[in-house]
Amino acid sequence: MTKIPVAILGATGAVGQRFVQLLEAHPWFEVTALTGSDRTVGQQYGDGCRWVLAEPMPDYARGMLVLPTEPGFEARLAFSALPAEAARAVEPALAAAGYAVSSNASAFRMAPDVPLIIPEVNPDHTGLIAHQRAARGWPGFILTNPNCTSTGLTIALKALQPAFGLRRAMVVSLQALSGAGYPGVASLDILDNVVPYIPGEEEKIEQEPRKMLGTLHAGAVRPAPVVFSAHTNRVAVSDGHMVCASVEFERAAGPKEVAECLAGFEAPEMVRTLPSAPRQVIEVRSEPDRPQPRKDRLAGAGMTTVVGRVRTDPLFHVKFVVLSHNTVHGAAGGSLLNGELLVAQGLVQ
Ligand SMILES: NC(=O)c1ccc[n+]([C@@H]2O[C@H](COP(=O)([O-])OP(=O)(O)OC[C@H]3O[C@@H](n4cnc5c(N)ncnc54)[C@H](OP(=O)(O)O)[C@@H]3O)[C@@H](O)[C@H]2O)c1
Repeated sequence: MTKIPVAILGATGAVGQRFVQLLEAHPWFEVTALTGSDRTVGQQYGDGCRWVLAEPMPDYARGMLVLPTEPGFEARLAFSALPAEAARAVEPALAAAGYAVSSNASAFRMAPDVPLIIPEVNPDHTGLIAHQRAARGWPGFILTNPNCTSTGLTIALKALQPAFGLRRAMVVSLQALSGAGYPGVASLDILDNVVPYIPGEEEKIEQEPRKMLGTLHAGAVRPAPVVFSAHTNRVAVSDGHMVCASVEFERAAGPKEVAECLAGFEAPEMVRTLPSAPRQVIEVRSEPDRPQPRKDRLAGAGMTTVVGRVRTDPLFHVKFVVLSHNTVHGAAGGSLLNGELLVAQGLVQ
């Protein structure tokens, strides 16, 4: 198979670097363009990028020139790791120029005609793309993945939704520093500390899972009728977002059946064979002190959601802890899986 040429927008940032790493030797995609801001355009990637990942920078990227983030580069699919403001301006221009854009940015996630997708949860929501193209007159399109804290939480809730129904969820996040990009939170703000405020994050967690858990009907997504209350906190962890969730169902359920349901969850058949799909979507830990970010974030190469401490909740029905790697499944890995889904569905060729 001839590989599909792909671009990484915002390739020098925290998420962009994950894309550079995950796309090395990808079986379907070949990176043909890396873009940045005025700060790095024109430089070789190896010089302009301050590499923050533990593994070395892949050789293929080192000598590539950083290009302007605007239409003109050679690629059919563009993975976007742009800040929301930059995405708001440039992603529509790229879609209008014919590119398929798989975006991590929040700019268009809640737009009614833009799919917000986790392939294990709602791969059918790509059905919005035809409506988006018709309404906006774009030959290309924009598809998004959720905020990194919503990812693992939504996967866990999707596993439970068909069996028990979802009524209410109270969630408290403990979010890693890499979720704020680089340089992110100042060291003197976070050392020996927890910051109980992440701008815009609570609103995202209270809205995005409802869209993904909703149903596509007549060209629109009906959000799931579940109500979320979220508290978000930044903690001194490098990678891996943890969420403590208390959930009320439509039908009463106990920890044993909930744990079984989580462990048995499988992605829809088409998604299971995608190159970046996790073999196990959810790993359920039975130890009283797991999951932990340092020990569990690399489960399934960062694509498996780890759930533990499944127990009875005195207020709602059940409570548990969810861990998901924020820059892998929560960002670049999730967006890459979305790109693979587009190929499998014939929306990118
Ligand atoms: N970090 C996470 O865990 C995570 C998870 C899910 C979603 N996201 C989302 O992913 C996006 C990227 O996050 P990040 O953490 O990687 O941010 P980041 O480290 O700050 O990187 C931002 C990237 O965008 C480029 N950029 C900035 N302003 C630009 C402009 N005006 N035009 C073109 N390029 C511009 C930067 O290029 P230069 O280096 O050349 O300036 C850099 O490559 C954000 O929308 C974020 O909300 C992040």
